[in-house]
Amino acid sequence: MTATLRGKVAAVTGGAGGIGAAICARLAHAGATVVLTYRSSSAAAAALVDSLPGAGHFARRVDVTDSASLGALAAETGERLSRCDVLVNCAGTTRFVAHSDLEGLDDGLIDEIFRTNWRGAFAAIRAFQPLLAQHADGLVVNISSVAASLGTGSNVAYCASKAAMDCMTKSLARALAPRIRVVSVSPGLVDTEFVRGMDLAWRKDQLARTPIGRLVTPEEIGDAVVAAATLLQPLTGCVIPVDGGRPLA
Ligand SMILES: NC(=O)c1ccc[n+]([C@@H]2O[C@H](COP(=O)([O-])OP(=O)(O)OC[C@H]3O[C@@H](n4cnc5c(N)ncnc54)[C@H](OP(=O)(O)O)[C@@H]3O)[C@@H](O)[C@H]2O)c1
Repeated sequence: MTATLRGKVAAVTGGAGGIGAAICARLAHAGATVVLTYRSSSAAAAALVDSLPGAGHFARRVDVTDSASLGALAAETGERLSRCDVLVNCAGTTRFVAHSDLEGLDDGLIDEIFRTNWRGAFAAIRAFQPLLAQHADGLVVNISSVAASLGTGSNVAYCASKAAMDCMTKSLARALAPRIRVVSVSPGLVDTEFVRGMDLAWRKDQLARTPIGRLVTPEEIGDAVVAAATLLQPLTGCVIPVDGGRPLA
């Protein structure tokens, strides 16, 4: 078994974001043709497509809360590239609301988080299922979070949405086997713009609780995705922690 994805196609939702861009780069360096989605970051998406090694990559504007746009993306991927071997659900949203501030977590924000983080990921899998099953070795990677198991994170609904995502990973790994494997990659705190913009005291506290003594890099999340698609063929229905040991602290 070699770590190559030559001849394979990977679709990445939220592919122009901090972690998504690194996942796209790692997949392309491993030989895959990458289809990436953005919602608002069109310039970043175009620049990323231009920077990827290999040919055939393209970016499309897709709102994962609009299931029809995911269906259109799957159809275009099939028409242009004739296959899709890997789907990475990386699009996600959140906002900081203290867990004790129940009024601050209003219905609108709760619905937005679940529509994006859970329903969006499910709808993407539903749209891409025929393509992923075509060659009997499809893979879905759901980018969840250590927040799912710790119950700590940007807000209560975000933690719950990622726990629900990990549960979906198990349900669909069972339901879609053996043609499609489904795994979660569960990052701890990742060194992205979003995290760099946080309060310094908060970041220091998070670092103190991370046994490896540093943040995880976006590239390390990309490496985990490539590993799941290449070397780690027996994995399905599991959560791969890429968190620097954060749950131990
Ligand atoms: N950063 C961390 O420490 C960390 C830790 C654990 C898990 N995660 C997870 O990793 C994933 C990527 O996060 P990130 O840190 O890279 O944040 P990010 O840069 O904000 O990326 C999030 C991406 O999701 C896209 N998105 C949001 N809502 C969308 C929607 N309705 N439809 C389509 N795309 C949508 C955004 O697209 P546009 O920019 O184009 O609007 C953006 O590219 C998320 O699922 C997040 O929960 C992050």
